[in-house]
Amino acid sequence: MKTTSEIRQSFLEFFQSKGHTIVPSSSLVPENDPTLLFTNAGMNQFKDVFLGLDKRHYSRATSSQRCVRAGGKHNDLENVGYTARHHTFFEMLGNFSFGDYFKQDAIAYAWEFLTSANWLGLPAERLWVTVYETDDEAYDIWHKQVGVPAERIIRIGDNKGTPYASDNFWQMGDTGPCGPCTEIFYDHGDHIWGGPPGSAEEDGDRYIEIWNVVFMQFNRQADGTMEKLPKPSVDTGMGLERISAVLQHVNSNYEIDIFQTLIKEVAALLNVADLDNKSLRVIADHIRSCAYLIADGVVPSNEGRGYVLRRIIRRAVRHGNILGAKSAFFYKLVPTLAKAMGQAGEILTEKQAHIEKTLKAEEEQFARTLERGLALLEEALAKLDGKTLSGEVAFKLYDTYGFPLDLTADVCREREISIDEAGFEREMQAQRARAQASSQFGTDYNNVIKVEGETLFKGYTVTQCEAKVVALFSNGKAVDTIQSGENAVVVLDQTPFYGESGGQVGDSGQISTEICHFNVTDTQKYGHVFGHIGQLVSGSLSVGDSVSAQVDTARRHAITLNHSATHLLHAALRQVLGNHVAQKGSLVSESVLRFDFSQPEAISKAQLDEIERIINRKIRENINVTTDIMDIESAKQKGAMALFGEKYGDEVRVVGMSDFSMELCGGTHVKQTGEIGLFKFVSEGAVAAGVRRVEAVTGENALDLIFQQQQVLAQSSELLKADSSNLVEKIQQLQEKTKRTEKELQQLKDKLASQASGELAKQVQQIGGVNVLVQRLENVEVKSLRTMVDDLKNQLETAVIAFAVPTQDKVNLIVGVTSALSKTINAGELVGVMAQAVGGKGGGRADMAMAGGSQPENIEQALDIAMKWIQAKL
Ligand code: ALA
Repeated sequence: MKTTSEIRQSFLEFFQSKGHTIVPSSSLVPENDPTLLFTNAGMNQFKDVFLGLDKRHYSRATSSQRCVRAGGKHNDLENVGYTARHHTFFEMLGNFSFGDYFKQDAIAYAWEFLTSANWLGLPAERLWVTVYETDDEAYDIWHKQVGVPAERIIRIGDNKGTPYASDNFWQMGDTGPCGPCTEIFYDHGDHIWGGPPGSAEEDGDRYIEIWNVVFMQFNRQADGTMEKLPKPSVDTGMGLERISAVLQHVNSNYEIDIFQTLIKEVAALLNVADLDNKSLRVIADHIRSCAYLIADGVVPSNEGRGYVLRRIIRRAVRHGNILGAKSAFFYKLVPTLAKAMGQAGEILTEKQAHIEKTLKAEEEQFARTLERGLALLEEALAKLDGKTLSGEVAFKLYDTYGFPLDLTADVCREREISIDEAGFEREMQAQRARAQASSQFGTDYNNVIKVEGETLFKGYTVTQCEAKVVALFSNGKAVDTIQSGENAVVVLDQTPFYGESGGQVGDSGQISTEICHFNVTDTQKYGHVFGHIGQLVSGSLSVGDSVSAQVDTARRHAITLNHSATHLLHAALRQVLGNHVAQKGSLVSESVLRFDFSQPEAISKAQLDEIERIINRKIRENINVTTDIMDIESAKQKGAMALFGEKYGDEVRVVGMSDFSMELCGGTHVKQTGEIGLFKFVSEGAVAAGVRRVEAVTGENALDLIFQQQQVLAQSSELLKADSSNLVEKIQQLQEKTKRTEKELQQLKDKLASQASGELAKQVQQIGGVNVLVQRLENVEVKSLRTMVDDLKNQLETAVIAFAVPTQDKVNLIVGVTSALSKTINAGELVGVMAQAVGGKGGGRADMAMAGGSQPENIEQALDIAMKWIQAKL
């Protein structure tokens, strides 16, 4: 029996033997595609190749692509564990033709791989196929050439309501490459319920789709129109877990080797005897998506990709809790997973420590609130009248205990209770709005700006050049001419303007002819062309015009200093903090450089100082900055730092600063590090769990920062009549002086209060041998009241003292009773009686009690009541 790893390997080998290049899986975080949350198909990394925007040195490729389908539009999370085939993570085997072979070969290859005794050797009579209703060509290939009998070929049309909405028409998304497809199904046998595709029983588990072969022919536009692709192509996808289930003679994906290994490991860790327990499946599924997402650089957080990851981890922890987990367990599955995944697990082994640490931290953090949240939920469910949990409770669980809605739904589902999702949504609205404002998913500028050919970038060597306008865009549409005052995007055949990429912002400057002036405020890349964004300030500009393109050199220079300094920073961070430091994001603008990186702990002041010193030393060494073009393998061999998940072409540009720093980078750099002049940190802090951010300035900006700081110092020194040598000392003296003065002030206040109490003592009435003092006082602070009452108690021996003091709109009450008397007259009781009269409550000890009230207008009444109450007791 073939293992899953062996099946993956034979697929790649089969297609290699048919002239395909084996391409490694791309990252789960799609690069440069804002329309996609996670990589969800093998073709994602080839999207631009299908569209004709990108070229590779091969026209046939094969891969085993890691995919995540959770979050975003296709969210299967809640179903995972409860069905035989839903997963958050899976591997998609695929073969691709970029304008090379088409239907004929694609079908023949699939058939050979599945049925040939040299490869998978599946019995042909178990295989069924579907074709798009009108695709007679595919039908004939299957029937006449391959020999599949007509009763096992099913035509499926637009069965989902609108044109091209069909099980047999595959689209990457609302926009992008698409085309009719043919699907291959495996019949697991009549011992399992279900019917062939297109039948009423198709949702059963008997006939399972194993392979989808897409004949890519169109690029779907946002308005629904289908633009022809440059060349008909092929994209296929076969779920590795499904085909393994077929070959390992099991019906559920969870019974294949990888899942069985994981399920047994979870069961052993948590001491569970029943291996069919659904929670075991959930955990076995979730560790795969979580480990790979973290390996691909996602960090648990409260928005976007990080939030999806957090939800999956929390769901796994919850299911661990159901199984009786007492402490963090989820992270312990990583080594078993890495091993079970064979070659695909290498990336997990490489990053094992980081994945474990991230999972463990998240798990522990959530476990602390899980118990309390679950208790709250239990309580709410016990009180529940009906079958729906309110949106407010679900939101409170989300907001206070970090329960994602699907987690709450998961618990409710076990008791057949639903959630008022509309109510939850209402509560969520505020958070939603915020998240949406900061999210960019859904805008695909590539769909607006599409231009043949490419812009030649000349900006490494010059900041001015002559060029031709090849396209103009205004209001999201291609136009021939723009007029003065119009905002537009200008595409040139060549340009010195740097297009935003690799963290470096786009250049600004001027594009002009003799009769016009276009102010460029930003430059962006769209596929292979550069768009100069800005406004035509005078004249008119047309496609075909010859122009002069001039970059704002002062701004570019400041940006360049920051970019080179970022490389020094990256290297220095790794030197001081360790090699786990990996870039998570960067911004290089003219005013500041910002660098986000993985770093689990806070950075000490001493470490920051050391990093700053190293960078400035490297600046003073005035190192020659070199740029070399080489192939990616040589670059990696030389030890160049590449950004994980970044897509690099076959040839890469390597920026080096002696042996201190070497990075793959397309940005602009100084010739010698000395140009940077000076590097100063501006800030350091955490941005997300395990990710820290530093900001820094260089050159003129660093000098400005120092001037500003010096000015603050000078002003402070002047105010304190000090200089920089004794400023701190002066401040300390000032603080001590203030402390002393405050203390003296309090002593004086106490003294005044006790003098006042001397005066008060004269107002005492004698009732039945007891000194009674019931008074309204003005302008006495609460702090002093106690002292006064204590003083009076000392002076008067047997006494009861009650004061009412109005403040702006409140009343403070205090009652003191000498200790022997407090058995007869309880201060706490008396103050309570008084408080009632001024709209308050109070109590306290028998010999000293305080209270407050809100009705100063009733003070006299309160004092009367107090007097009567005392008289009655004596
Ligand atoms: N891209 C196709 C799919 O995901 C093969 O089914």
